[in-house]
Amino acid sequence: MKNIAELMTERRSAQDFDPHYQIPEADFNAVIEAMRMAPSSYGILGQRLLIVNPGPMREKLAPCFYNQLNYLNASKFVIVLGVNHKGLKTAVTHTIDLKFQKDSELRSTYEGNIHKALFSGYLNDQQMDSYSSQQTYITTGIATVAAASLNIDTCMIGGFSSKALSEILIQEGLMQEHETPFITMAFGKSTKVSGDKLRTELKEFVKEF
Ligand SMILES: Cc1cc2nc3c(=O)[nH]c(=O)nc-3n(C[C@H](O)[C@H](O)[C@H](O)COP(=O)(O)O)c2cc1C
Repeated sequence: MKNIAELMTERRSAQDFDPHYQIPEADFNAVIEAMRMAPSSYGILGQRLLIVNPGPMREKLAPCFYNQLNYLNASKFVIVLGVNHKGLKTAVTHTIDLKFQKDSELRSTYEGNIHKALFSGYLNDQQMDSYSSQQTYITTGIATVAAASLNIDTCMIGGFSSKALSEILIQEGLMQEHETPFITMAFGKSTKVSGDKLRTELKEFVKEF
């Protein structure tokens, strides 16, 4: 098997996918599991995934993704929902409840640290949203590597109307008001990439001291 650096060097973001290709179920499940195991700040459990298979709902949501081909033709399409400023506190409490016994000393230290960092008034709503959004990007970053290791092509898709998508997802009962679709990701067999792979030269990218 190729090492991770080789996989990442060879992988490209798919601009389009073979619409007839289906990712083997076990492989896709492994990618989802890798996403579920992604680390998050303070270990807060504040994310979940919507998997949009080809079909009427994929079509209905297409205008929210400006009908991009890599949205339309992906074998699997994942919307990563994160808690927004309306849900962050509840997610923190839920996580702490699962992680610690009631009245434990560790619990109050942990709780104190999180509350100081997130809820002491330094962060406005937008900054809380941004904090949650960052966690979802870690999840898709991990999915990029996991998928490459299984020969699944991907493209992270940030080019969508979050407002339009949120409206439909809430209407359809697929998302709650306290959640936001921060980032999305397409998976399948790539048929098109854009240009050559361009990266910062190693000597400019790294300074070791
Ligand atoms: C956060 C993020 C959002 C992106 N959004 C889109 C997108 O909406 N549409 C698209 O075709 N590619 C999107 N891409 C793919 C990038 O354009 C691509 O990673 C970049 O051009 C480098 O190409 P490569 O991944 O093939 O090396 C996105 C990538 C990232 C990391």
